[in-house]
Order: sequence, then C-alpha cells, then structure tokens
Amino acid sequence: MHTRIFLIGFMGSGKSTLGSQLARAIGYRFLDMDHMIEETAGMTIPGIFKEHGEEVFRKWERDILRELCSQEQLVVSTGGGAPCHADMIDRMNRCGDTVYIRLSVPVLLERLRHSKTQRPLIQGKSEEELKEFISTLLEERENYYSRARFIVDGYGLNPDTLAGILNAT
Ligand code: S3P
Repeated sequence: MHTRIFLIGFMGSGKSTLGSQLARAIGYRFLDMDHMIEETAGMTIPGIFKEHGEEVFRKWERDILRELCSQEQLVVSTGGGAPCHADMIDRMNRCGDTVYIRLSVPVLLERLRHSKTQRPLIQGKSEEELKEFISTLLEERENYYSRARFIVDGYGLNPDTLAGILNAT
C-alpha cells in the first residue's frame, strides 16, 4: 500500500467520511483538501469562490497537493473538481494511490439534495437543474476520475472493504 492515498470522486460521494474512517482503520493521518484550503484562506469554500473566484481556488488546490506530496502516511479527501484541473490527476497518481469512489447520478442527486455542506457549484439549483448539472459534469469528469489506480463502487462501501482493496496490491 502506498504512503499517500487520494480519494477522488464527485461531490457527495462520501470521500471525507470514508477517508477519515479509512485513515483510522490503517493508522494513517486524515487530511481534507477543502478544509486545508479553508484554514489557509481563513474563509469558507463558498466565500473563496465569491471573493477570489474558481480559478484562484483551483490554484490553491494545486499548492495544497504539492504540500501533501511531501508528507507520509496520509489519507486525503480531495475536492470533487481537484483531479479534473491542470495535471492534478497525473500528479496524484505519481505521488500516491488514487481511488475513485464511483456513484450513479440518481444516488449523487439524492445525497446532494439532502447534504448540509454548502457547495458553490450547485447552490440555488432546482432538483431538475441539479440532476442535469450532475449528469453533464460527471460525464465530463469521468475522463479524469477513470484514470485512478483503483475504481470502487461507492454504494454501501465501508472502510474495511476499502482497506482490503488497497492492501491487495
Ligand atoms: C467542488 C467540490 C467541493 C469543493 C468545491 C468545488 C467541485 O468538494 O472542492 O466546492 O468542483 O466538484 P467536495 O467534493 O468535497 O464537495
């Protein structure tokens, strides 16, 4: 198993929850890229998008990744768009094991409709708009997500199963 594990996937796919449970199960540290950016910037993700714009946020994601790649024994929950910008997926693949937690559009829709996390990309969308948005963006992002070293079905996935998959190589 690699010393750095990056969980990637669409918003609402459970990267943070699974990531912290996985880290506990294997004795690694857990870090959430979004939280790290929020701490460094001293503002929330919606605040960053509003004040600085998405491009600056994507640059900060790149900076954080560089920092993470110099640390050991980490499970990282990445932002849903992180592996889909610049050469981020390649960089993650070079410095760690990437795991794509894959879920279908209906499941993502259900989760995002009920999520309390504020996400600037989906804020204020009706259910119909959200469904359309998820399917279009997911199709586009699959090109990046599918380059992960491991692709796992996120439905009902638990940390022990995930640890087993990662240990298998
Ligand atoms: C984003 C996903 C969010 C956060 C930001 C942008 C995206 O993270 O990084 O709102 O582009 O998909 P989660 O995947 O943890 O929701």
